[in-house]
Amino acid sequence: MSDKKIKAVVAGASGGIGQPLSLLLKLSPLVDELSLVDVVNTPGVAADLSHISSKATVAGFLPATGGAKAAFKDADIIVIPAGIPRKPGMTRDDLFNINAGIVKGLIQDAAEVAPNAYILVISNPVNSTVPISAEVLKNNNVFNAQRLFGVTTLDIVRAETFVSEISGQAVADLTVPVIGGHSGETIVPLFSQVTPSVTIPDDKYDALVNRVQFGGDEVVKAKDGLGSATLSMAYAGFRFAEKVLRAVKGEKGLVEPSFVYLPGVPGGAEIAEKTGCDFFSVPIELGPNGAEKAIDVLGNITEKEKKLLAACTAGLKGNIEKGVAFVKNPPAPAAPAAPAAAPAQK
Ligand code: NAD
Ligand code: LMR
Repeated sequence: MSDKKIKAVVAGASGGIGQPLSLLLKLSPLVDELSLVDVVNTPGVAADLSHISSKATVAGFLPATGGAKAAFKDADIIVIPAGIPRKPGMTRDDLFNINAGIVKGLIQDAAEVAPNAYILVISNPVNSTVPISAEVLKNNNVFNAQRLFGVTTLDIVRAETFVSEISGQAVADLTVPVIGGHSGETIVPLFSQVTPSVTIPDDKYDALVNRVQFGGDEVVKAKDGLGSATLSMAYAGFRFAEKVLRAVKGEKGLVEPSFVYLPGVPGGAEIAEKTGCDFFSVPIELGPNGAEKAIDVLGNITEKEKKLLAACTAGLKGNIEKGVAFVKNPPAPAAPAAPAAAPAQK
């Protein structure tokens, strides 16, 4: 096992996901240095976490103290849950206008000061923020598809939980591949590929698929205007980050689905050709180089799953194009507001 010291960063560290995710990283024996950046409250979050008697040292950054550039400097892994969450009635795509710019700015900073970092993007809409990230990294000549991951682990976590509720199998034993993207119909659970195998009764199949695809809405509705999944996402984000770090340290056989640029990952080009989507989530074998192999699970899927896949790719292509276009053809800056009309003269 490598004894390389690990610097981990959370961008958006004061938020609903950022705080519990930072706590989990602070508790991890795999992290030596934890750097937290946000536009508010990081001094407080960092001071609080720094009292925990675990190994990692903690520092907090705000724009006034160097912001993301100072936080990211020479990072090994950068996890990004910065940006606004949904409220009831919103789609993830409704977050694009604000979050696209936030992610673009953070990735630009990462490209400049941490070009070799593993970058894990949580900010929604993931189907577009990951293509945005890739384009920014390409513009800086530092794009390495094996090190850029859209975090879709929450879909897998949900699928494992819901399948276990139906099948009665212990959740810890289940592996449920979920592929595609991270929004509604772009999320494709493959119950035919679950290990150990499960039989989902026909009368429960559609509802189970729907619950995995729209699990996020369940939480948004229950939080009633106060945001979206945070605690389950912090768990999922940590689970993925920890696997990346364990692989970096030399552990073998670690696999987890993630939304990656398939043509840049060994084994991915063939899958991209089959789906017609360059960015797509499939099980990824992790190693010291990051995404060492994209695993093709499309070979034996059922007719029902083929239909889910067709609906997924139809929507996903547009989400990807929107992200790429945001960087290639940036929207014109908003025109300055017209001066307020002078009060009517008497
Ligand atoms: P939140 O509003 O609680 O926290 C977001 C944080 O980002 C805030 O503290 C905010 O100050 C910070 N921020 C904003 N701009 C920033 C910038 N330029 N630099 C650094 N920090 C900045 O929101 P949340 O509930 O933590 O959700 C964050 C994002 O994660 C949302 O976009 C949400 O949709 C997404 N999300 C994704 C998944 C997934 O499965 N990938 C799951 C849940 C939530
Ligand atoms: C989720 O799946 O919970 C997240 O993407 C947040 C959301 O907006 O639903």
